[in-house]
Amino acid sequence: MKFSASAVATAFLFGATSSFAFTPIANSSLQSRKNASVVNYSSFTHPSTYQNNNNKIPIRTPPALQMSYTVGIVGATGAVGKEIKDCLENRNFPVAQLRIFGSARSAGTTVQTEKYGSVTVELFDRAAARECDVVFLAVSGDFALEHAKALVEGDDGCVVIDNSSAFRYEKDIPLVVPEINGAETKKCKLIANPNCTTAIGLMAIWPLHQLYGLKKIIMSTYQASSGAGQEGMDELQQGTQKWLQGDKVENKIFAHPLPFNVIPQIDKFMDNGYTKEEMKVAWESRKICSLPDDFPVSCSAVRIPTIRAHSEVIIVETEKPVNVEEARRVLADSPGVKLVDDPAQLQYPMPLTATGQYDIEVGRIRKSLIFGDHGLEFFVCGDQLLRGAALNAVLVAEEMANNGSLKAKAKA
Ligand SMILES: NC(=O)c1ccc[n+]([C@@H]2O[C@H](COP(=O)([O-])OP(=O)(O)OC[C@H]3O[C@@H](n4cnc5c(N)ncnc54)[C@H](OP(=O)(O)O)[C@@H]3O)[C@@H](O)[C@H]2O)c1
Repeated sequence: MKFSASAVATAFLFGATSSFAFTPIANSSLQSRKNASVVNYSSFTHPSTYQNNNNKIPIRTPPALQMSYTVGIVGATGAVGKEIKDCLENRNFPVAQLRIFGSARSAGTTVQTEKYGSVTVELFDRAAARECDVVFLAVSGDFALEHAKALVEGDDGCVVIDNSSAFRYEKDIPLVVPEINGAETKKCKLIANPNCTTAIGLMAIWPLHQLYGLKKIIMSTYQASSGAGQEGMDELQQGTQKWLQGDKVENKIFAHPLPFNVIPQIDKFMDNGYTKEEMKVAWESRKICSLPDDFPVSCSAVRIPTIRAHSEVIIVETEKPVNVEEARRVLADSPGVKLVDDPAQLQYPMPLTATGQYDIEVGRIRKSLIFGDHGLEFFVCGDQLLRGAALNAVLVAEEMANNGSLKAKAKA
């Protein structure tokens, strides 16, 4: 069977097949985008991806959250920052005032919100950001290194939840996935949000660790273009259009052209032959789960030409013998996890269905051929802009509001 070039591109970008109830975006729609400026896919979610949305993470309105906070987002024009704004709105986080800070590139422009009206982007200024009760940093690690500690300093400083890797490995700074080690946020003002791949994988790994005790973790990850921010998505989209027109595909963000390719490199190479992204998974899994410094975790990280949601093959060796049905039941009951595991019905996790979802999807759960009774192999997909960044950060803020480490300052 032959497909037109645009049909191939549509299927490739959005993972459409005829075997499940997904209607690909019409070819004409893709065609019309060719002449348009770059479409912003960071908040792209095809309506069909919402049909299965039965996220278990509750919208919390306990007493502490009755307080209202002045909330700042630095980088709300970027891939992660936009999602933080949406999570705050969707989860009814009690925002008295939303302030958005950016660089000279976006200062003065406005961001439309459903609940807080039209918010004008302020040029980032430390003193102004310190007026907030909590500031979400969705900017580079260098920016966080320059400003985060100065933002939290003193009694009148604000709480900072940082999405970069700047502070993740500092001993006294908590690195938090709320469902695992949320209690570590108590009495802290600077919190590091984990690497997206790590956060997604640990949502499935942690319940299995509680159940069977893990001895080894081996991960292979297939990561979407949005992991490299808005510019990563733009490069994939523009490159795909160029490829289809027969033009040369250029790459600035990725090490090689990404359309119709996979690239076994994310971040820079380290002396041991692993990339920094791969080592982040090992370092951060140990820190978040309080595992020993030499606990065996290994990861291969591959960039693939999808827009959003990372996929992971995870193999674990366990202390106790495993039971696949029991593992399925426990994962289905775990917060932030959705079991999608019915191979007979072609139901398993996919980026397309995980996109826009708060829960990560886990499926293809089976006893490992390598570790036998003491091992499981499974597949996970999670929206890395949500669980791997924005949602996790907002859940951290909720945790801190609940445990009293986030307080609303007295207003003058
Ligand atoms: N993408 C992911 O999947 C992901 C997942 C987990 C963590 N992270 C981390 O989250 C952070 C943000 O990533 P991203 O993917 O959202 O990047 P992005 O799409 O490139 O957005 C970067 C944001 O930073 C802002 N910014 C840059 N320089 C600034 C300055 N001097 N002052 C104020 N704002 C400035 C930009 O605002 P202007 O438009 O005003 O320049 C933009 O909104 C990074 O540390 C990244 O490693 C990303």
